[in-house]
Amino acid sequence: MSHLAISQGSLTAPVGSDFSIRRSVFKTQSINFNDKSWAPLLPLDLKTKNGGLRNQRIVRMSVQQASVPKVAVSPLQLEDANEPPLNTYKPKEPYTATIRSVERIVGPKAPGETCHIVIDHGGNVPYWEGQSYGVIPPGENPKKPGAPQNVRLYSIASSRYGDYFDGKTTSLCVRRAVYYDPETGKEDPSKNGVCSNFLCDSKPGDKIKITGPAGKIMLLPEDNPNATHIMIATGTGIAPYRGYLRRMFMESIPKFKFGGLAWLFLGVANTDSLLYDEEFTKYLKDYPDNFRYDIALSREHKNKRGGKMYVQDKIEEYSDEIFKLLDDGAHIYFCGLRGMMPGIQETLKGVADGRGRTGRRSFHN
Ligand SMILES: Cc1cc2nc3c(=O)[nH]c(=O)nc-3n(C[C@H](O)[C@H](O)[C@H](O)COP(=O)(O)OP(=O)(O)OC[C@H]3O[C@@H](n4cnc5c(N)ncnc54)[C@H](O)[C@@H]3O)c2cc1C
Ligand SMILES: NC(=O)c1ccc[n+]([C@@H]2O[C@H](COP(=O)([O-])OP(=O)(O)OC[C@H]3O[C@@H](n4cnc5c(N)ncnc54)[C@H](OP(=O)(O)O)[C@@H]3O)[C@@H](O)[C@H]2O)c1
Repeated sequence: MSHLAISQGSLTAPVGSDFSIRRSVFKTQSINFNDKSWAPLLPLDLKTKNGGLRNQRIVRMSVQQASVPKVAVSPLQLEDANEPPLNTYKPKEPYTATIRSVERIVGPKAPGETCHIVIDHGGNVPYWEGQSYGVIPPGENPKKPGAPQNVRLYSIASSRYGDYFDGKTTSLCVRRAVYYDPETGKEDPSKNGVCSNFLCDSKPGDKIKITGPAGKIMLLPEDNPNATHIMIATGTGIAPYRGYLRRMFMESIPKFKFGGLAWLFLGVANTDSLLYDEEFTKYLKDYPDNFRYDIALSREHKNKRGGKMYVQDKIEEYSDEIFKLLDDGAHIYFCGLRGMMPGIQETLKGVADGRGRTGRRSFHN
């Protein structure tokens, strides 16, 4: 018998507002949170990008449409290892890489700036999709005079072959951290985020100290190429999924021919803040049976209660379908703002209760 239980307790995830977790074999596990501040919202009735599918039962195809050509990648030896590379470069001996490009990827009406940054590591710092790099910004650690700055982690936004498909670059999706004085409402540049501003201000050819790759939690399980993957992101939390989706739909990987379902939920402020939308829209067109894409535009759309439209509202909209997929063994991933979790927890708990499920109380990362 399978169980899904979502209960209050402790979440084994990084503290603060950043986090990423993957749940596999969700049906025997539960999600637990301390933060009870979020009030569950009601379902919405907005059109979705692939709205035609929304009320249909999902039929998973076992093969993708063969007509869409895929990109050849190299070196294919990057497929050979059984384990992901881990901490090849550590903070005391970081790798010095070179910035290849920095591009602002949001429109003028986006609140804040997000940049896509391509780093040339010359093939010396390989990684797997879902891992992170550390970046050590230049300058002195303000808390430890004479010591370098602390490492900041960034989820990798490319596949292991990088944006040039040659295994020599890594892409990051970085939101510039800007500080506004709460009293005056004015920007105070002296308190702006050190590393995100360093990255967004860098120029091609600049040197950058990197560590890693780090993390095993968000690796893409590939044992079953016909599996279902439900990916939930707020803002730059999209990073790991861009890597997964390139591997699934853009690259020709002899060992991994994806024929399952990838369902992406992305929450951003407005249309101008959408990230990698062209890429995702193309997958929708090319692989309509294997890809679904739903967006929550918090400052353009309202939820049913008149509040901001957040990803958790989208989850609620599809909660029955999502629950069924999870019960059938779908993988689910969360990346971005921790604040989205209580709502998702409540939603899935509501569905579980409605189905008369009881559950075990365990959570494993
Ligand atoms: C696993 C993981 C993955 C991540 N992935 C990504 C990613 O893909 N993309 C991404 O953009 N981020 C990501 N982050 C967040 C990233 O690591 C950094 O925390 C973020 O970029 C901010 O770092 P910073 O050096 O710019 O800011 P910091 O200099 O570390 O400052 C942190 C915050 O404090 C504020 N601040 C500074 N001084 C003061 C002061 N005196 N008073 C009040 N506030 C102040 C800054 O404005 C900033 O908002 C990730 C974090 C984790 C843990
Ligand atoms: N751990 C990781 O691997 C990882 C990877 C990438 C990013 N991150 C972190 O993820 C966060 C995302 O940052 P960002 O600056 O890109 O995002 P952002 O632009 O600040 O927010 C993205 C969207 O999330 C909405 N949002 C705000 N609070 C929410 C809540 N409680 N529930 C659901 N949605 C909510 C925002 O709405 P409004 O602004 O309109 O309220 C906006 O629409 C950052 O803290 C980043 O450091 C972590």
